[in-house]
Parts: sequence; C-alpha cells; structure tokens
Amino acid sequence: GRVFVPGDAAAVSVGADEVAAAFEAAGAQVVRNGSRGMLWLEPLVEVETDAGRVGFANAEPDDATTIVTGSRDGTTSLLDQRGCIGVVDEHPWLTKQQRVSFARVGIVDPASVADYEAHGGWAGLRRALTMTPADVVQEVTDSGLRGRGGAGFPAGIKWKTVLGAESDLKFVACNFDEGDSGTFADRMVVEGDPFTLIEGMTIAAHAVGASEGYVYVRSEYPHAVAALRRAVDAAYTHGYLGRDILGSGLDFDLHVRVGAGAYICGEESSMLESLEGRRGEVRAKPPIPALKGLWGRPTAVNNVLTLCAVPMILADGGQAYAALGTGRSRGTQVFQLAGNVKQGGIVELPFGVSLRELVGEYGGGTLSGRPVRAAQVGGPLGAYVPATGFDVPMDYEALAESGAMLGHGGIVVFDETVDMAKMARFAMEFCSIESCGKCTPCRVGSTRGVETIDRIIAGQNVQLNLVLLDDLCETMTKGSLCAMGGLTPMPVQSAIKHFPEDFQQREAAL
Ligand code: NAI
Ligand code: SF4
Repeated sequence: GRVFVPGDAAAVSVGADEVAAAFEAAGAQVVRNGSRGMLWLEPLVEVETDAGRVGFANAEPDDATTIVTGSRDGTTSLLDQRGCIGVVDEHPWLTKQQRVSFARVGIVDPASVADYEAHGGWAGLRRALTMTPADVVQEVTDSGLRGRGGAGFPAGIKWKTVLGAESDLKFVACNFDEGDSGTFADRMVVEGDPFTLIEGMTIAAHAVGASEGYVYVRSEYPHAVAALRRAVDAAYTHGYLGRDILGSGLDFDLHVRVGAGAYICGEESSMLESLEGRRGEVRAKPPIPALKGLWGRPTAVNNVLTLCAVPMILADGGQAYAALGTGRSRGTQVFQLAGNVKQGGIVELPFGVSLRELVGEYGGGTLSGRPVRAAQVGGPLGAYVPATGFDVPMDYEALAESGAMLGHGGIVVFDETVDMAKMARFAMEFCSIESCGKCTPCRVGSTRGVETIDRIIAGQNVQLNLVLLDDLCETMTKGSLCAMGGLTPMPVQSAIKHFPEDFQQREAAL
C-alpha cells in the first residue's frame, strides 16, 4: 500500500523530507499528506494496510527499509516494529475528538482534487450552487458559526451585510495572517487540506455576490503558500474556480497574496490596506469592510477557519453544525496546544470543553514535568489563566466572563518556573514593536508600559509603578483604535491579578 509522510511544515521541521526521500528510495509509493495534529509524534509515517493506516511515530530515514519490507509481510509484522502506534484512526487522541473543519487533514492528499472529492469534498459547493445567495446566508446564520479569527462575530450576519450592499463589484477576502503566537491551525488546514478553503471561499462568493477573492497569507508560511497555489491551479483546471463554475453561471477568481511580516496586517483593515499595496495601517471604523472594504467595495473578510467550516455547513445543513457546542458558541473550535506541553497539537472539539481537560488530558501536562502554573489563551493579546482557573468552559461567553478571551483558540502552557512580570513585559514590548503607530495610546503607551514594568522588575517604587501601569492600561483599553493597543492590557492585567507575588515581591527580593 501507499506510504504517507506529512509535508506539513511542523513535520518537515523535524526531518519529514529526509524520511520521505528514504521511503521513496526503498521503493514505496509516497504521498505527502498533512499532519494529523499529533505534533509530538512527527514525523508520523502511515502505511496503508488491510486493517487501516498503521502509524510509525518519530520515524527516521533508517526505518524506511524495514517498514517497507514489513508491509509486504502483512499488518502483523508491521505492528512489532519500532515506533508503531497501531492504526492511526483508532488512536485515542483522535477518537476522542470531533473533527469537522479538520475532518480531512492528514487523511487526504492535499495535491489531489479527486482525492478531495472522494472524501466528501465539493458537496457543500454543489448544494450551495442550487440555492439562492440569501438561502446560503440563512444556512450559515442557522449554523450559529461565528468568526474564528478571534472576535466571534456571527458569520451569517456579516455575509448578510455584504449581500445587501449595492455595488458593481464585491470581494471575499480571507485573513490568513495568523499572527498569534502559539497558533497554527490556519496553517495546518491549508497545508493539509487546501481545497476546503477554496470551497469555502467559493461558497462565500456565491452567498455575498462577489466575483473576486483574495487570500492574504503571511510570508512566514512558505509551505502553506505553495500548497495553496498548487490547489488553486488545480481548482481552475477542474472547473471549481474561474468562469461558469460547475455550469452554475458563477464566476469567481481567487488570488493568493503574500504579506511581508507585520502582525498588524492581521487586523482586517490593515490587511486591506496591504492588499491594496499600501503600508499596513489600521483604518478608522466605520465604515466596516462589509460595506466599504477592498478598494472601497463591500468585502466579506473572514478567517481561514471560519471559511473552512462553511463547506460542511452547506453539505450537512446548518442545523447539524448548530447541534454541536454550548450556549451562543455553536459548532466546534480548533484548539491549538503549544508552549511547555507534553503533547502539543490540534484538538478539535465542540465548544464547552474545559481548559483543564485540554491541557491535562490532551496535552498530558508540561513537557518539563513540573506543575502547570498558567496558560495564555487566545494569543499574545489574551489573558493568562492560572491553573486554579482551568475549569472554565472554553466558549466565547464563559471566557469573557472570567476576564479572558478565546481568540483564535491558541493555548500556550507555562510551568511553575515562569516569571509573570517578565511575561507582562513581553506583552507590552510586543505591542511596542508591532504597533502600526496610528494612535497615541498604543504607540506611546506600549513603550511607557515597558519602561514601567522594567522599574517594577527592578524593584523600584513597585506600588507607585503598579498604580501607574494600571492607569496606563485603562487608557490603552479605552483609547486605542484597534485590538492591538486595546487588548495588550489583557495579558498584563491578568498577570498582575492572578500572580501578584511576581510583581509585589520584587522589593523584598532585592
Ligand atoms: P471586531 O469585534 O471589531 O470585529 C469583528 C468582525 O465583525 C470584523 O470583521 C468587523 O468588520 C465585523 N463587524 C462588526 N460589526 C459588523 C456589522 N454590523 N456587520 C457586519 N460586520 C460587522 O474585532 P476585530 O478588531 O476585527 O478583531 C479582534 C480580535 O482579533 C481579537 O478578539 C483577537 O482575538 C483577534 N486576533 C486574532 C489574531 C490571529 O492571529 N488570528 C491576531 C490578533 C488578534
Ligand atoms: Fe495602530 Fe496600535 Fe492604534 Fe491599532 S491600537 S491603530 S495598532 S497604533
């Protein structure tokens, strides 16, 4: 049978290319699939057998000959070999998950339109094309899908705004800037299953009346850029993009644009500026991009994961998606486990799972083996949640209520050795480096914030400087034009609130 060796950037970073070459040299028919998201097992090689795909964890080039020979002797002999984890689909880390957006990642050949179709691809688009745009928007509204980039705005309402806007030209723009530290779900879905994004964007185009689409991808993702460009070309060749798509009369062109490495270009209006060829600087809102976006035209700006949920919603119906989740957080969330964690990777589950289960059971605790002290949830602008607060259900409202945010679903774990004052400093420093400079609270405030935290760390006038820092955070929260300056106080203030000893005891320590 065929041998699968991930071409995913995370797998490649630990030697997957060399492993793939060794398997080819040993005479195997190699498919470069995406990663299953069990990153601690990469490179995870899979061999097709009668019993299913048998996996070999942390494979090395030297394993190729024995595994290829073993596969000729049958499944039983494979199971005895070094690194064998059995049938991958039966791995408990995967069977406990509910993969919807990631259903095909790691399974399909990301370069093959036919393989995508064989695994249920294009069913959502085919159905959408038989429906009116308004009905497609209604289906997405019924699903309860909210923006997975972080803000959680209802996708159906955004699309309705674009559909209702009068214009000779409309756009769909996919935000694939994924700048948040500790997040990698956008990258992995595109590298492992790029046609899902193309299908989601084509459905969006039909729904809002757009004729052109742009994917804005960060330059740090060269493997994803290559996978996406290859898939776009194949989609054109097979009639899923371009003129008169599948004979429906829909015309839709899709362009891939690569950014130049600025965090702020993930903010939607900066992204639009950058797409237009200008410096990435935040635009004042209103007008919202749904009404005046790219080149002043109505534009549906959606994150990769939002668009990748759409094909399933159209294929199986909005109600099927809405049946998952809790409260106003419907469907599944793709959590990303990173930082000091034993088992890092992708965990897709309905909203409502606790942070404790994610970090403790899926993550297996810290890699260092020391007790967990905190997790930062939702990227560099998200709150630090102390280990005592890990029972919080992971949904938009419950997290907001506890003073945190879900963001893009990234979870970065820290053990007891973390210095939270230094993490607070990091948040301010990050803002001072990445600020677009348009408004004062963020541009100047972040630099003053770094200086103030430096004084606290040095044990100088700690009480006074904590008061000043709090005041500064309030100004940044209330006075910043966008989430960059507006949310930077969240990690800073959550660190001070939950770990006061790391700030207060500086004087005593000197
Ligand atoms: P926002 O709440 O201002 O807007 C959310 C979306 O809803 C935008 O697309 C906006 O245009 C749209 N919208 C608002 N009102 C609308 C209406 N009446 N009709 C149609 N559309 C409407 O939030 P923002 O500033 O776009 O995003 C902030 C979030 O970004 C943060 O919560 C953070 O989690 C996340 N973030 C994600 C990153 C990543 O790497 N994925 C990086 C940094 C921040
Ligand atoms: Fe630019 Fe910061 Fe103001 Fe956002 S908050 S507009 S990044 S200066």
